[in-house]
Amino acid sequence: MPEQLRLPGRLTAPSPGWTTRADVVIVGSGIAGLTAALRLRGRVDKILVVTKDVLNAGSTQWAQGGIAAALGPGDTPEQHEADTLVAGAGACDGAAVRVLVNEGPEAVRELIALGTNFDHTDDGELSLTREGGHHRDRIAHAGGDATGAEIQRALIAAIEAAPDIEVIQHALAVDLLLGPGATDASGASGPRAVAGLTLHVIGEGERDGVGAVRCRAVVLASGGLGQVFSQTTNPAVTTGDGMALALRAGATLRDLEFVQFHPTVMYLGPDSRGQQPLISEAVRGEGAFLVDDDGNRIMQGVHELADLAPRDVVAKTIMKRMLETGRPHLWLDARHLGSDSAAFWERRFPTILATARSHGIDPVTQLIPVAPACHYASGGVRTDLLGRTDVPGLYATGEVACSGVHGANRLASNSLLEGLVFSRRIAEVLPGELLPWREPSADGRTPGIVAGDIRRELQETMSSRVGVLRSAPGLAEAGVVLDKLAGHAAETVDQASWEATNLLTISAALSDAAALRQETRGSHWREDFPERDDVHWAGHFDVTMEDGLTRVAFAPAPATDGGLS
Ligand code: SIN
Repeated sequence: MPEQLRLPGRLTAPSPGWTTRADVVIVGSGIAGLTAALRLRGRVDKILVVTKDVLNAGSTQWAQGGIAAALGPGDTPEQHEADTLVAGAGACDGAAVRVLVNEGPEAVRELIALGTNFDHTDDGELSLTREGGHHRDRIAHAGGDATGAEIQRALIAAIEAAPDIEVIQHALAVDLLLGPGATDASGASGPRAVAGLTLHVIGEGERDGVGAVRCRAVVLASGGLGQVFSQTTNPAVTTGDGMALALRAGATLRDLEFVQFHPTVMYLGPDSRGQQPLISEAVRGEGAFLVDDDGNRIMQGVHELADLAPRDVVAKTIMKRMLETGRPHLWLDARHLGSDSAAFWERRFPTILATARSHGIDPVTQLIPVAPACHYASGGVRTDLLGRTDVPGLYATGEVACSGVHGANRLASNSLLEGLVFSRRIAEVLPGELLPWREPSADGRTPGIVAGDIRRELQETMSSRVGVLRSAPGLAEAGVVLDKLAGHAAETVDQASWEATNLLTISAALSDAAALRQETRGSHWREDFPERDDVHWAGHFDVTMEDGLTRVAFAPAPATDGGLS
């Protein structure tokens, strides 16, 4: 068991200078958050959406490939289920996957009814494409490669047409306020329940600085943790705030070690940091392939789906070749797409084309330099099939959550779908189980905060020691660095320090789980344990925290690929 690190039990913050009330607070404004808000409308009295930046600053906006659902001729939810389970490498929750694939088609149709303009074929049918791990064309896309942006546009338009849903932008969720738990017949008290949320708002007038929102339920839809690593496809807001806040409040984090590295992220040089340009898997879906410096196609003979193998297989093959050759990247060859490559690129991938050209690469005539980078957290706040967490009144949906659908490696384009499907489920159940209003009780958690300037060292450490390829010595070194960084207390209380503390909290939990999982499974790749080991490691690592001390426990579960669950 890795040595324990003491982390802040709650974030140091000034006392709230303002207060407001809402029945339900939704944290996050991507597909998961806005779907929850729209579906809860009319079912609860007052809904408040809070978002860390502006409404479209989260990961949804950046999704390129699309949204997967069994909508095409000959496709079925069962086939989508089979592909999802195989990609998840035995760590999916079979029941959650069935929910996803069975409810997915209707949820996508509802998104269309809301006004999302997906691409259509010349015959007027929904245009469906293929990505890694899918045996069918089942990815609906919009604007060619601007699917997330179009979905986000449609959802924001619907929110703006709903004046009864209040929105606060530039609002960082700091910590949950907790009240007494429910008492059972024997007088025993259950876990502390949601009584509100503290927020830091960069605003004007009454709502500026730290405030308290009193509420009866919180729906976390705050996205992932990409900024834990030096290079990620995720936007700057993804600092794991929702996962860290939930952990501090008593929720369980599950499967954190399963961080997906997207194989084809444009390589911008050794010093490039932060959000990097994604080259969608759909480009390979349309026929592009990976080559090394000598022009060898690296995926041939590695997997039956070659360049469209599941993402972990492609990322590992790229990394292996990079390590063998000492090169910092490989190449994606997409010069041959369509009968007229330039016209094809303009129509099908206009966003990627413009981005690549802005970095001096023309994919119509040139190879694109690519390397894996952090893309998606398959784990997160553990929920049941209705989005409930272990904290009464706290729900989670989308990337912040671990509903069990992704297992060890998310199937391409299942993420938007997960947010959509599970937010709809939360909206069905939440109104009937809204907690009574309760006063926050005395908070016994020890406050703390680390300096914002630890961020760079933390990211470098996580990328080099807890990134695509992991080993016991590297993970131990990461533990030493994280321990040291935990000692860098902040002198000023500000957003940079809150974010750094959240990044540290999630990094520590992630590294602990990665150290304990002594096998290679899905996106978790151990140099020292190169095989999948269903005898010892079929199951999940659950991380909990009590006043700053984390505990990692293994929860055995039957392997679920091949439909066995
Ligand atoms: C991509 O377009 O390659 C990303 C899609 C996804 O992450 O599901």
